Amino acid sequence: MDLKPEAVSKITVPLILDRKLRGEKITCLTAYDYPTARLVDEAGIDVILVGDSLAQVVLGYDTTIPVTLDEMLHHLRAVRRATRRALLIADLPYGAYHQSEDEALRSSIRYLKEGGAEAVKIEGGRKRAALIRRLVDAEIPVAGHIGLTPQSLHSLGGYRVQGKTAESAAELLADAQAIEDAGAFALVLEGMPRELAAIITRRLRIPTIGIGAGPDCDGQVLVVHDLLGLSMLPRAKFVRAYADLAAVLRDAFIRFRDDVRGGGYPSDAESYHWSGDLREQFEKWATLRSLKDEV
Ligand code: KIV
Repeated sequence: MDLKPEAVSKITVPLILDRKLRGEKITCLTAYDYPTARLVDEAGIDVILVGDSLAQVVLGYDTTIPVTLDEMLHHLRAVRRATRRALLIADLPYGAYHQSEDEALRSSIRYLKEGGAEAVKIEGGRKRAALIRRLVDAEIPVAGHIGLTPQSLHSLGGYRVQGKTAESAAELLADAQAIEDAGAFALVLEGMPRELAAIITRRLRIPTIGIGAGPDCDGQVLVVHDLLGLSMLPRAKFVRAYADLAAVLRDAFIRFRDDVRGGGYPSDAESYHWSGDLREQFEKWATLRSLKDEV
């Protein structure tokens, strides 16, 4: 089988693992709706993540904590309909896997059966190892996520870069190893010093996908609204905006408003028309019914 990126018609979990062996970088973007997912997929991005960042960038919640499994599923289905080639991973939101392993299993099975996800992502280190084993036993591929884990916002005391002391770096290294040993196929490293992410990446056999974790990870993920310059949130240091869609959209909305107010939209060319002698026929009909003055 030819596994060159451009020759691959469908990205799978084994293929993602293989990328690390070949030293080929993995690309990942979030998507939450049909048109964005189609464009991301058609651009040849390897992995589409229906992230629980949905809560903030699309649904307007302050944090990721409130988003529900059903809200996630609604968006996951739209992304599924658009995605042909990319591997589709969906975040289990806060509260969908924290109460029991059975609950986590039920949530994940809903993602696979109702949402068409091909893998789930859960946040947390060693404390998630048993759960990851259980999910993997049930044929559910799992991606881990450690470092700055937004669902732990309250226990972390804010969105802070993690692993900045020797102790916390050692904890994160142990977390990473535990996630791999539990059977996860990939690990997201978020908000940690480049040096630590590089050590974890070298140590693990599974690929690391970084966000705010420097360039030495096996792949990179960005929230698509950040990449597009469409996020309403303050821009983090690691974000590179490849477009300024907020400016493009704002300009389009203002021009539409001004055109409508000034009578410039719609034009005659943008209107439907009666053809042939329809006006004449209609006037005759109106005259018969004494409606002439109204037409
Ligand atoms: O929810 C999300 O978008 C994520 C990425 C930041 C990795 O988890």
